[in-house]
Amino acid sequence: MDCVKIEGRAYVAGSLKRVKIGGSCKTIQFSDKYLILPGMVDIHVHFRDWGLAYKETLAGGSMSALAGGVVAVGDMPNTKPHIKTAELYAKRLREGAELPIVYRLHMGLPEDLTQLEIAKPHTLKIYPEDIAAYGWGHVKRALEKCAELGCTAIFHCEDPAFFKNGVRPPEAELACVEKLRRLKSETGSSIHITHVTLPQTAEVSRGWATVDVTPHHLYLDGENCREGGLCRVNPPLRTPEVRKKLLAALVSGLVDIYATDHAPHTIEEKTSENPPPGICSLEIALSLLLTLWRRGVLSLGDVVRLYSKRPARFLGLDMGLDMFTIVKLEEWEVRGVDFLGKCKFTPLERRRVFGRVVATAVGGKIYFRDGANFDVRNLQP
Ligand code: DOR
Ligand code: ZN
Repeated sequence: MDCVKIEGRAYVAGSLKRVKIGGSCKTIQFSDKYLILPGMVDIHVHFRDWGLAYKETLAGGSMSALAGGVVAVGDMPNTKPHIKTAELYAKRLREGAELPIVYRLHMGLPEDLTQLEIAKPHTLKIYPEDIAAYGWGHVKRALEKCAELGCTAIFHCEDPAFFKNGVRPPEAELACVEKLRRLKSETGSSIHITHVTLPQTAEVSRGWATVDVTPHHLYLDGENCREGGLCRVNPPLRTPEVRKKLLAALVSGLVDIYATDHAPHTIEEKTSENPPPGICSLEIALSLLLTLWRRGVLSLGDVVRLYSKRPARFLGLDMGLDMFTIVKLEEWEVRGVDFLGKCKFTPLERRRVFGRVVATAVGGKIYFRDGANFDVRNLQP
């Protein structure tokens, strides 16, 4: 495999400068129409595989990540079977270690908490289904255990007691957050609330929990998303007013992390009578964030903090200089058919976005986007 060295304009330590990255190899020069950014880190993806391989696989999910400039992911445990044992947790991590990107895994909440002692996960994912199945008492014991083991509990924070006839109102999120605030003071566990939909959640969690927001809750709402099943996601899209206030919370620095909740299903499932919840966005998430930079809503520092620095710290990653992505500074139109994972559709179809990922470097290799594939080169000789 050819070895290459990259030269171009990069965002380094808060400012833009020309850099050279790589060994003593052939140099590829990028003009100032390109920008080298630290590799993106997505703490919330669903790579499926196993019993759900028809929706997506670890390999397919990694392609989506590389196409989106993402060098590391935190995968969710709601696979088939759900990853709730130390054995499954270790098996999945072994499989993830073979991928071209850095793979981390959030463990599912087991009924038998001794599984946590054996697995010693860095993070534990708790779903509304877990709260419904085991009760808040069990969640509290899990948080105590998590505090003991030094892990962080990631909450999909909606109290299922508020679900009614398939409707998941904002009150479900608010009630869950209040419950968590109490559990935090009782257990001292480290808490992260994922895919928050309400600006109030970002506000009230300051000081005791970290939060992330998804691209779909920032860009889509019950009025501008009319694609039926394609717009179905949990927690649900909110009103335009709430969405705009969530964006304002992001701009004012109340949000720690940007994460996709990339959740592949088949197009047949999503267009059926009873579509499963989930939106795919790994391939376009960075461009959606850079679009906010282009519009002057966020700074480049915000983009790097939200989708690279803070999530890397959250996953405990040491991001080397060889973990980066190169974007072409141009506008382009989103087309699901160009996605590289199995999920090739999005309710953001035909949106104009800014910043096109042309290459992603991870683990000493650089993956140049070449149509439906990658042209891979070594960065080190
Ligand atoms: O929309 C969602 N999709 N929300 C979830 O909590 C699960 C996810 C999935 O796995 O499809
Ligand atoms: Zn999810």
